[in-house]
Amino acid sequence: MPDTLTVTDNRTGKQYELPIDRGTISASDLRQIKVSDDDFGLLSHDPAFSNTASCESAVTYLDGDRGILRYRGYPIEQLAERSTFLEVAYLLVHGELPNKVELTSWINNITHHTMLHEKGKKLMEGFHHNAHPMGMLVSSIGALSTFYSDAKSIDDFDTRMLQVYRLIAKVPTIASYAYRNSLGLPYVYPDNSLSYPGNFLNMMYRMAEPRYEPDPTLERALDVLFILHADHEQNCSTNAMRSVGSSRADPYVSCAGAAAALYGPLHGGANEAVLRMLNEIGSVQNVPKYIERVKAGEMRLMGFGHRVYKNYDPRATIIKNTAYQVFEVTGKNPLIDIALELERIALEDEYFVGRKLYPNVDFYSGIIYEALEFPTQIFTVLFAIPRTAGWVAQWMEMIADEETRIARPRQIYTGADERDFVPLEDR
Ligand code: CMC
Repeated sequence: MPDTLTVTDNRTGKQYELPIDRGTISASDLRQIKVSDDDFGLLSHDPAFSNTASCESAVTYLDGDRGILRYRGYPIEQLAERSTFLEVAYLLVHGELPNKVELTSWINNITHHTMLHEKGKKLMEGFHHNAHPMGMLVSSIGALSTFYSDAKSIDDFDTRMLQVYRLIAKVPTIASYAYRNSLGLPYVYPDNSLSYPGNFLNMMYRMAEPRYEPDPTLERALDVLFILHADHEQNCSTNAMRSVGSSRADPYVSCAGAAAALYGPLHGGANEAVLRMLNEIGSVQNVPKYIERVKAGEMRLMGFGHRVYKNYDPRATIIKNTAYQVFEVTGKNPLIDIALELERIALEDEYFVGRKLYPNVDFYSGIIYEALEFPTQIFTVLFAIPRTAGWVAQWMEMIADEETRIARPRQIYTGADERDFVPLEDR
């Protein structure tokens, strides 16, 4: 049997053979299905892209039913255990793990682009002391576009790579400046002798000491969290990166668009929302009452559910284990007990079981961030740092893809039919 779909249009009685390629039909093939010559042709309606593949991608594989996540074919569990964030970032961008020479050169390139232009620093000083760090991050990433006019040359591979280095390198610097700005603390310049997460901790926390020495367990835990958040195929922010980038805008403004999408509480903003929720619940005894309110539709259980995962999010399993390693250094965060009880009750409750709602990546990450003394407001920024690697990897793939055209969906028009303008005095 050929891989085709036979469609009968009952309006006309006509039949159409649509090719099926890798379990997918081309939406453009529907256009031939018409009732008359001047008919535009059949459209598919998919408001949140729930069942639409917007691109071909070789970056990340996700099987939501089986709880599988792989970057370039490598299981997330193996990468979290044996790799580093910068190695994973190379893998995402280039498609293969680097050899020693390639890795050294990659790390060198990233660490030598960590500084922010002094005027960029000044720009950040202009933010109000209580500005949300995500607002500062979005604006400051966008502002990078004004410093690097070469970024517009998106057809040149080397120029594209330069922006990739700059973005992966500078986002942690911007993130830490956003934090220090909110406390009125002086900015800390990057220390290029430290690892990527170690330098981030340095820029966040260094005070009067001549050199910041990160705790190796905490540095590694942060690196693992960075690996887990690095990419997640066509999620909301990656779709924004591709959508803005498809107009051939430069990667900085595209990345600012992606970061803006991440800010929302249904996406990267959920980790912040989880912490607020756990604090609101306050104690293990209050959990059943809270679950009842969620089931009554008063609010959502933040950190639960996912558009694609209909099983335990594999990242949540790793994060839960990492939390205990962190607690050995920092002491236990009491919120973990509330989270465990929430998870226990939810996983036994028909409401959550029936809807296949499981803990997602954000459920436990905030508890670790809090143990690492990151303020709640900065949690989504901590998601944005590693996701930048995914955004640029997907952007590089999109630019090189011959199928790429400007993202421009269709609509079903539901507005008024043509009518004549009525002057103000007659309305
Ligand atoms: N708590 C309670 N009920 C929920 C939840 C939740 N967290 N998530 C979904 N539901 C219910 C929802 O009310 C609906 O029930 P019904 O069929 O009775 O109307 C059903 O489950 C399906 O929900 P949906 O809104 O159609 O699912 P979606 O695929 O559009 O939404 C989601 C996915 C992640 C936005 C949603 O599960 C959610 O809001 N979760 C809480 C926020 C969160 O943790 N977000 C982080 C996602 S993972 C990190 C990332 O990728 O950014």
